[in-house]
Amino acid sequence: MKITDINTSSPYKAVTGSGLLKECGELIKKYTKIAGHAEKAAVITDDAVGPLYADIVEASLKEAGFDTAVYTLPNGEASKNIQSYAKVLGFLAESQITRSDFIVALGGGVIGDLSGFAAATFLRGIDFVQIPTTLLAAVDSSVGGKTGIDLDAGKNLAGAFYQPKLVICDMNCFDTLSDAVFTEGCAEIIKYGVLGDEELFKHLEKHGRDFDKEYVITRCIEMKRDIVCEDEFDTGLRQLLNLGHTLGHAVEKLSNFGMYHGMAVSVGMAVVVRASAAGHICSAETAERIVKLLKSFGLPTECEYGIDKLYELMQSDKKRRGKEIALVVPKAIADCEIVKMPLADMKSFMEKGI
Ligand code: GLY
Repeated sequence: MKITDINTSSPYKAVTGSGLLKECGELIKKYTKIAGHAEKAAVITDDAVGPLYADIVEASLKEAGFDTAVYTLPNGEASKNIQSYAKVLGFLAESQITRSDFIVALGGGVIGDLSGFAAATFLRGIDFVQIPTTLLAAVDSSVGGKTGIDLDAGKNLAGAFYQPKLVICDMNCFDTLSDAVFTEGCAEIIKYGVLGDEELFKHLEKHGRDFDKEYVITRCIEMKRDIVCEDEFDTGLRQLLNLGHTLGHAVEKLSNFGMYHGMAVSVGMAVVVRASAAGHICSAETAERIVKLLKSFGLPTECEYGIDKLYELMQSDKKRRGKEIALVVPKAIADCEIVKMPLADMKSFMEKGI
């Protein structure tokens, strides 16, 4: 078991290891102050994850002395909306969750983001613990305190920065993921290697999908921790985490969200990396190495949409400020930078990578 200290404005730990679900109650007692005041845990999960793990988590919480109540949402991004959010708040009220109680988010990014937002707002804020059950949630959304829901006008448009009190990543959860969900998580893992850790990148080149999960996930969490602790409220450095996301979000939208987020990010990374090689920001060899690694994980690297449609959507990207967009480009493996690029230049830049 490994423990990563995350020293944001409200510090907490991320625990990574195997078989942690059945110890989650004890881990909460040991690594947070929650047991000093809480009587009850509200477990929020979905109908794909709940049947696998909710009983284990509930039993462990009970064993540690907490009462429990469980709320199950339908699996999928469609649940990350204002109606589900209202239902979760209603459930917390009906379950008589008080300000001293806490939420356990048991699931992937949708459950983590929505439960975190409910925790941030119910009774003006109660404690919450993240138990991510997908790779994507483990290495990205469960750490760093971005919580929120989608609105009809777009993804993640309502939310709050609200840090959990503990993150528990049980490696065993990642053994039951569908092939597609496992694969999309790998795109974010490869992203960390490209962003700042050549050893991690080499480990992924050497072991492919049989990578050492505990080492890799812990390393990604440490890297996210380093970035988030420098820029908790996303005003600069944190934008590095958006490598591949500007084009990726456009691809996701053009597919009507039929394409998994991680797959779209993979396409976005491949395009920006090829464009960077064409623009002499990185070498052709660096670009080839990154694209080859993505492909070897079964991730898509070709973009089936034309630049005009993509550009239209990229202009409405959250990362746009005025007539500029902050684009993350690789200079080498483990060396990326944020470039403030005029929108018009971005169009011709990206076109070279498609
Ligand atoms: N998912 C990007 C971030 O946490 O900033």
